[in-house]
Amino acid sequence: MAKIYVTRKIPESGIGLLKQAGHEVVVSEKDGVLTKDELITALKGQPYDAVLCLLTDKIDGEVFDAAGKQCKIFANYAVGFDNVDLAAARERGMVITNTPGILTNTVAEHTFALLLAIAHRVSEADRFTRAGKYQGWGPLLLLGSDVSGKTLGIVGLGRIGARVAHHAVRGFGMNIVYFDVKRDEQFEKDYNAVYKQSVDELLPEADFVSIHVPLLDSTRHVMNDATFNLMKRNAYLINTSRGPIVEEEALLRALRAKTIQGAALDVFEHEPKFDPLLAELDNLILTPHIASATVETREKMSQVAAQNLIEALQGHIPPNIVQAQ
Ligand code: GLV
Ligand code: GLV
Repeated sequence: MAKIYVTRKIPESGIGLLKQAGHEVVVSEKDGVLTKDELITALKGQPYDAVLCLLTDKIDGEVFDAAGKQCKIFANYAVGFDNVDLAAARERGMVITNTPGILTNTVAEHTFALLLAIAHRVSEADRFTRAGKYQGWGPLLLLGSDVSGKTLGIVGLGRIGARVAHHAVRGFGMNIVYFDVKRDEQFEKDYNAVYKQSVDELLPEADFVSIHVPLLDSTRHVMNDATFNLMKRNAYLINTSRGPIVEEEALLRALRAKTIQGAALDVFEHEPKFDPLLAELDNLILTPHIASATVETREKMSQVAAQNLIEALQGHIPPNIVQAQ
């Protein structure tokens, strides 16, 4: 039997799996994110063999040291793992896992929800209607942009980027241009997609740009003043990956100056904070990092994180081990 610390309340099914496997589970009782000091205090001197952590926990060498040498694994409840210092983990032989695959459909759906909503001005129209401003049908009222037949630029062709492309092509007859560090010729054949050698080459061709890269030094601020200037003036940006990939102040400038038509963000550069001036813009939709937030997917993430812990605690290599890229 092992002792496992969970840094915040998560859907029950994973906790159930851990208990069924005979482990003792301690869940943080705080209603919210533990500060780093609180996390260190919770772990220090305690005999935890494993930790289930969240993307909102900053996990670095100090946290690993607080957990102690008997602790062998940190299972991150997320597909992204930029919150974990992988070099510090490697130095200490700490195993790190994530929850890929099961949230692909859900995040792709949310991406499409944002894409359709910004093109059809759904949030703005909802605010307009609720405010009692609707005085009758009008030929020029709240005109948006078509999605069908337009060109979608995918930045980052992982599982999620590819799924978004699938919906775009099969559902809306969109054309696909994509950039990734790896070219995928099968994907190009399947979806009639065109590979671009760089983001700079992709941007001028896309009516919608959707970001699906992980946060790395090389992807931080991919969208900045210079790259916004490469986009079409009637194009939209959608970001459901990680906030710092888009330089927020540059986005604010681009939206105010109408350098681009609009944007929809599920993630922010300094989460959960964002520049309040963004909230004043009608050509922007904001959602609070909920792209994977369906009942079904959050239960599956809980189960996958638990499965990673169970395998590692049995001395096996867990299915979703991650390493520095
Ligand atoms: C959510 O952002 C995740 O990485 O799972
Ligand atoms: C994440 O699951 C990705 O590969 O896009």
